[in-house]
Amino acid sequence: MKEFRDRTAVITGAASGIGLELARRAAAEGMKLVLADIEKDKLDATAAGLGIDANRILARRTDVSREEEVKALADAAFERFGGVHLLCNNAGVGLTRVSWELSTADWNWVLGVDLWSVVHGVQHFVPRMLQQAEGGHVVNTSSVAGLLSTPGMAAYNVAKHGVVTLSETMYGELLAAGAKVGVSLLCPAWVPTAIHESARNRQDRFGAAQAAEGLSAGYEARMAAAVKSGRLTAADMANEVFAAVAENRFYVIPHRKINNAIQLRMDDILGLRNPTQLP
Ligand SMILES: NC(=O)c1ccc[n+]([C@@H]2O[C@H](COP(=O)([O-])OP(=O)(O)OC[C@H]3O[C@@H](n4cnc5c(N)ncnc54)[C@H](O)[C@@H]3O)[C@@H](O)[C@H]2O)c1
Repeated sequence: MKEFRDRTAVITGAASGIGLELARRAAAEGMKLVLADIEKDKLDATAAGLGIDANRILARRTDVSREEEVKALADAAFERFGGVHLLCNNAGVGLTRVSWELSTADWNWVLGVDLWSVVHGVQHFVPRMLQQAEGGHVVNTSSVAGLLSTPGMAAYNVAKHGVVTLSETMYGELLAAGAKVGVSLLCPAWVPTAIHESARNRQDRFGAAQAAEGLSAGYEARMAAAVKSGRLTAADMANEVFAAVAENRFYVIPHRKINNAIQLRMDDILGLRNPTQLP
């Protein structure tokens, strides 16, 4: 997708972090915007702060873990702007616990926001994007957690691995269909955002997570410190995404230092070696 001006971008999780920077970049490219987030006040502030005409932007509170809300978002986007050209399935949450301490509600929350959201985005936007003469592009936000298996993050890892294979599968299918819709996969490592404070958005229906203790508490503290120490910014992620979309490039892995860890995992698998644990 080479033309951004006057095309429409839909961005989930647009009230904070990477989604907010994707929105800023899309606005700078002259796109019309559909912004979605569960945090309505922050979303409205984001929309107002972009400084674009009110008739070129739609901000809609959406819980992306709920299919009916993603469908309603798609209906509203196509009705308002007549097409959707860039879909960023970006909203996400993190939860750090050892796997045997994750409750079913924990799993449902993380899989709902991090994996089912992307599934619903694909279900409700892509068929309509395929009908458009001008085509479009889908960007699914996974993580290096979708390429590795870092201890303490089982639910997140499972969800993000799911996003990787869903996106890779779609890539082949879109190619086989001769579609004018492309797909890219964003896999960041640590980026300083509010992801380590994800519990702020945990919906009532999932209850509260149990307080982290012991090993889980250690993993939780390490994760928060790692997020805060991230050297590449959310704006860097947005720049990488727009470059990849313009080039129709699938893998977007901005933290190139992670390559060694990915290589090690692949070597473990192919060498039938037990998973190497990194410090
Ligand atoms: N920050 C990192 O280090 C990092 C690394 C790899 C991947 N990611 C991924 O990047 C994406 C963006 O995260 P971020 O780092 O910008 O975090 P963030 O917390 O700053 O932003 C996430 C946004 O998603 C929204 N959200 C949460 N639950 C939602 C729901 N049910 N429905 C709709 N919106 C919801 C939040 O309100 C927030 O605005 C996520 O998918 C995350 O997993 C982040």
